[in-house]
Amino acid sequence: MRRILVTGGAGFIGSNFVRFWIDHHPEDRITNLDQLTYAGNVENLKAVESSPHYKFVRGDICDSELVRRLFHAEEVDTVVHFAAESHVDRSILAPDDFIRTNVHGTYTLLETARVYWLAARFLHVSTDEVYGSLGPEDPAFNEAAPYRPNSPYSASKAAADHLMRAYHHTYGLPAIITNCSNNYGPYQFPEKLVPLTIRQAIKGESIPVYGVGANIRDWIYVEDHCSGLEAVLERGKVGETYNIGGGNQWRNIDLVETICDLLDEKLGAGTSSRRSLIRFVQDRPGHDLRYAMDISKITRELGWRPRETLATGIAKTVSWYLEHQEWVERVITGGYRDYFETQYGSRLGRG
Ligand code: NAD
Ligand code: DAU
Repeated sequence: MRRILVTGGAGFIGSNFVRFWIDHHPEDRITNLDQLTYAGNVENLKAVESSPHYKFVRGDICDSELVRRLFHAEEVDTVVHFAAESHVDRSILAPDDFIRTNVHGTYTLLETARVYWLAARFLHVSTDEVYGSLGPEDPAFNEAAPYRPNSPYSASKAAADHLMRAYHHTYGLPAIITNCSNNYGPYQFPEKLVPLTIRQAIKGESIPVYGVGANIRDWIYVEDHCSGLEAVLERGKVGETYNIGGGNQWRNIDLVETICDLLDEKLGAGTSSRRSLIRFVQDRPGHDLRYAMDISKITRELGWRPRETLATGIAKTVSWYLEHQEWVERVITGGYRDYFETQYGSRLGRG
């Protein structure tokens, strides 16, 4: 039985991971430490909140006293570290929280692990963005690609990766890094491209595409990312880095048009296709042109590969958002925060 500390488990990928893990490994114990920033939503975890093997703790990964107490009290032997500020556009507007949480928060967890812990695994869930940007014909990033982060977000994740490496090299901490490409799927906060496009298209509102929409991302369905993390936690080698990707390189404009077409099919197009909602807007400063992941290492060594193509994954995702429009509206209006107060407020002495 593992005793896992998940950080950031109320966010998009973290909450998918917690549900995935409890489903596949019901014997393990999970403590979910999440500060509940704007991106954290405990409603995402309704399905597991009554499980005796699951516990939610609201708190900051930079709070070393809290982290130390949790390691002791929960006898943590595995860390799966998702907690981060994750939105590139926000990092361009205000980098401060990114440096604090992504760098100092990771340092706090590592330092606690170093001092108090004999562990099985400390996994940092990192990003392909640490490798910088590819040209149209460049080969995909492999694990030996140099780090060339271009945004405050990717620089902060790169710094966290470097700390992971240093703590393994210097102290022998059982650190593993995964670098993953763009995720999409259920429960993604609707400021990111896929859920934003779906909502705007459902509502008949403008869909903003940066520049000319020629930027390319390597899209992975979130459940595939979770199964990749499972492979690494179970069979990965300590001290190693594994790239995870979906093998689906799409231009933003093609992805947005596909979503419009899917919604036209499902809801009817009326007099004009939802493609007519697309608006080309001012580009993101320093916008990376292309990401693509070479996943041959994780496939060869751990036997993992993604299951979904973009066509199958995006169809599931569009259906999920159509069935969960209330969830989206509660997130947009901030109403999701009421659920925390109802569910946890009185237990924390505030109700
Ligand atoms: P998210 O923004 O949806 O969730 C982040 C979670 O971390 C939220 O629940 C938030 O409340 C929590 N958090 C933030 N600051 C905290 C703090 N100081 N203490 C405790 N909790 C805090 O992010 P996501 O898209 O689910 O990404 C999760 C992780 O995966 C991040 O580390 C991100 O860098 C990485 N990643 C994301 C993608 C992607 O496409 N979304 C791809 C590769 C890697
Ligand atoms: O590559 C992995 C990264 O993917 C993760 O590390 C990040 O945490 C995650 O947020 C994501 O970053 P991106 O910047 O790639 O995701 P985003 O959804 O913000 O943008 C995807 C692409 O779509 C990107 O090229 C910018 C573009 N875009 C985005 C928004 C929000 C638009 O054209 N219009 C938009 O309104």
